[in-house]
Amino acid sequence: MFTATGSQSPRKECSTWMIDNFDRFGRALTSILRMAPPELAHDIGLAAMERGFLKLLPPPAPPQLAVPLQVTIPGLGRLRHPIGLAAGFDKNGRCPAAFEYMGMSFIELGTVTPRPQPGNPKPRLFRYPETRSIINRMGFNSEGAEKVLRRLQELKWNTTRVPLGVNVGKNKNTANEQSIRDFVTGIEAFAPLSSWITINISSPNTPGLRSLATPEFLRDLAQSAGDHKKKCWIKLDPDMERKTFQKLIDVIGGLDVAGVIASNTHRVEWPQAGGQSGYPLLSPANTCLEWIWEVSKGSVPVIASGGVLSGVDAFHKIARGASAIQIYTALVYRGPGAVFRICEELAQELKLRGFGSVEEAIGSCYA
Ligand SMILES: Cc1cc2nc3c(=O)[nH]c(=O)nc-3n(C[C@H](O)[C@H](O)[C@H](O)COP(=O)(O)O)c2cc1C
Repeated sequence: MFTATGSQSPRKECSTWMIDNFDRFGRALTSILRMAPPELAHDIGLAAMERGFLKLLPPPAPPQLAVPLQVTIPGLGRLRHPIGLAAGFDKNGRCPAAFEYMGMSFIELGTVTPRPQPGNPKPRLFRYPETRSIINRMGFNSEGAEKVLRRLQELKWNTTRVPLGVNVGKNKNTANEQSIRDFVTGIEAFAPLSSWITINISSPNTPGLRSLATPEFLRDLAQSAGDHKKKCWIKLDPDMERKTFQKLIDVIGGLDVAGVIASNTHRVEWPQAGGQSGYPLLSPANTCLEWIWEVSKGSVPVIASGGVLSGVDAFHKIARGASAIQIYTALVYRGPGAVFRICEELAQELKLRGFGSVEEAIGSCYA
């Protein structure tokens, strides 16, 4: 899977046919799903994936890559390629295997809160196909740490094959002063069976959550997390002032945590209140990558998230210093074949620009 064979491979025709059919049927089903209201469509899709429905499609074949895409991420190891699943799609860990089948090279579950909570009232998920974007104000609907943990224990996931991370947050009714305890509960529950933990202090839909993005809070959290801090990636929001953002990066660089995920959704009030993802987020999220590099010069590992719909978008994240990329909205608009397609496009883009690997291209736009 995911090995470079060159674009003139005799296998190309055959595998392209197979990928095309996984992709074509997948896209057709996704566009039928998009006729339903967004959250219902998501629930139906997830339920189908949980029942192994993707395996009824013609099987996806390994994409033919113009350049090998393997990349090493601290703590996650050697990945087949740099494209993984962003948090929020499978909040309760119901079907990580389906995302592996779609070709994701690393998978993030969550956000999981310590206690179960319903999230915000519906409707809370809105699609804007004309701008390839989504606005959500889900508000951490979560089955809670205990139930998700039990599910993951039963799953016995092999994190060496495909790294699996859990994104943790705080309950809505936990006062900010007590929120460290919520995060530590999540960290201690999931660190033993996951490859990494994401600290979510950046969702715009939990009142007060973003105000935890301070040097004091992060220092306290790192101290309370003990040795687990080395597994923690801090997910930041793209709506901070440059100086505030860069100060945080500076502090994070000294905390001995794994790295930074940049970024979460962008807060909007119109046409709906919530967090915006997809194409309109690409530019603000890329600016965050530039700010990070300016401060850290590549010393803080970065996973990029925000607005990647194509391999060219992915390339620009890598060129701005990201080692890996997470996607969510691309699955909604490009269907389950999105990862294979994005990988092919990324490999083409790397080749066109004269790079022989992903690693050569990391931070290349600053050279
Ligand atoms: C419906 C929805 C729910 C999300 N839920 C979460 C979440 O629970 N935790 C989190 O850290 N990010 C969440 N996100 C943000 C994504 O993980 C990702 O950072 C963001 O969507 C940007 O990537 P994209 O443009 O590829 O979608 C959510 C995004 C969407 C669209």
